[in-house]
Amino acid sequence: MNLTLKIWRQAGPDEKGQFVNYPVENVSPDSSFLEMLDVLNEKLIAEGNEPVAFDHDCREGICGMCSLYINGRPHGPDSAITTCQLHMRKFKDGDTVTIEPWRARPFPVIKDLIVDRSAFDEIIQAGGYVSIKTLGTLPDANAIPIPKINADLAMDAASCIGCGACVAACKNASAMLFVSAKVSQFALLPQGRVEAKIRVQNMVSKMDELGFGNCTNTYACEAECPKEIKVTNIARMNREFFAAKVCAEK
Ligand code: SF4
Ligand code: FES
Repeated sequence: MNLTLKIWRQAGPDEKGQFVNYPVENVSPDSSFLEMLDVLNEKLIAEGNEPVAFDHDCREGICGMCSLYINGRPHGPDSAITTCQLHMRKFKDGDTVTIEPWRARPFPVIKDLIVDRSAFDEIIQAGGYVSIKTLGTLPDANAIPIPKINADLAMDAASCIGCGACVAACKNASAMLFVSAKVSQFALLPQGRVEAKIRVQNMVSKMDELGFGNCTNTYACEAECPKEIKVTNIARMNREFFAAKVCAEK
């Protein structure tokens, strides 16, 4: 396939960015999207030009690094996959493919297609962990009976890879799908209940402080999430938050 790539180039966080067109030829439909960008970069380097900066690590849909906005959709035209799992057979010969970084104020561009997603780390540091001492003092986790439905829902929530597609997809740059997945994976299990009230309040308040917007129920986050995290997690987080606030005021 021969394609035209329309790629966002931006030299640094404070530089003005612009789209630059790159023709690419003889692209195999079986190559992955990132392999196609690798070939482009090898060509740019061979010609003495600056390669396109983009994030990636595992290339297996696990790490959540490959944050690209492709033809107006986070992670491209397929559903329930990350950019690294996208293959060129999803495009047609002669297509123009527009490639942008995530667009959200809390995710500032570092260079070209790479954004700073450390805001997510700050939210996790605000409460996305269990801090109670367990070693030698409590029964083993697998000795505590847990209803299967809760175990399944917690596992589903824990599959969030922190990619940020939910924020990029949302017109409000809301992080509520991400935060609610992290709140839910603990709230559904007895080990997480101990700190549930303080956790949800701290994580939500950090999310607000960092400038993420509110949820207005468009479901764009759920539609674009590569791990199919459900918006029912947002409803659970809201219930947890409300209950924590009511108890705190009693
Ligand atoms: S909820 Fe989905 S889209 Fe959002 S960070 Fe987690 S995996 Fe990515
Ligand atoms: S590179 Fe790790 S999820 Fe895509």
